[in-house]
Amino acid sequence: MRPQVICLMMTSPDGSLHPSRWTTSPDGTRSDWSSLYEKVHAEHAANAWMVGRVTMAEISKATAHPPSQTLDVKRPAYFARPGASSFAIALDPGGKLHFSNDELYGDHVEVLLGSNVPDSHLAELSSDGVSYIVSDTQDIDVGVMLELLHAELGITRILLEGGANINGSLMAAGLVDELSLIVAPALEARNGSDRVIAFGTEGLAGKVELSLLSCDPLGHGAVHLRYSIRQN
Ligand SMILES: NC(=O)c1ccc[n+]([C@@H]2O[C@H](COP(=O)([O-])OP(=O)(O)OC[C@H]3O[C@@H](n4cnc5c(N)ncnc54)[C@H](OP(=O)(O)O)[C@@H]3O)[C@@H](O)[C@H]2O)c1
Repeated sequence: MRPQVICLMMTSPDGSLHPSRWTTSPDGTRSDWSSLYEKVHAEHAANAWMVGRVTMAEISKATAHPPSQTLDVKRPAYFARPGASSFAIALDPGGKLHFSNDELYGDHVEVLLGSNVPDSHLAELSSDGVSYIVSDTQDIDVGVMLELLHAELGITRILLEGGANINGSLMAAGLVDELSLIVAPALEARNGSDRVIAFGTEGLAGKVELSLLSCDPLGHGAVHLRYSIRQN
């Protein structure tokens, strides 16, 4: 059994991933829309959030800091705080992310890694109190990881919060149950710019179907759209 996965993103009507490039609006500001996003995040009552490596690198800006003494490294998993009430999960196949402590926004950090990650990186994570699971393969089998997160840590609902590539690949794999979109009254409209969901050149046609669950105004000109997602 895997946790429920809800993809929660803030976007513009043209699907932009980058609020810093948006037009302004008389209805509200980026800060107003970010506050609405945080409110919806809390209302979903998930006990974990998950992001891709690129997005996590913008959140945790720590650099490599190998521990000074040799540590016994645990594989395939190290759970530093199995009883934590909420988790911040990063998908980092290459072991490129670093952390300065074991929490982000009050949530315990859990990193999902590819099989080639060296022991030195695992030693750094465990000395920082960060939990991890190393996949059997270099390309992480996210479905298997989700089942482990449920079984080992009691994670029942995960908010998948970007970026575009992680959102798209998990949707293509049939691992996302709902899309929860905050649409702000703004536009980016640059040629070739990133959209909130991306799945290579193939796209998602023929892979998933969306069905509207609800559409609610949130204030400051923003609306909250919720869609259930079914794999084709
Ligand atoms: N508007 C919003 O609400 C919002 C929210 C979140 C993020 N963002 C923006 O999104 C941008 C980053 O998005 P992104 O799409 O470039 O990166 P991303 O989805 O954050 O990260 C993609 C990376 O995650 C790793 N990964 C692990 N398993 C994967 C899998 N199954 N499928 C895909 N990737 C996997 C890969 O790391 P390796 O390359 O190391 O292999 C991959 O390159 C940032 O600019 C951020 O600011 C916006």
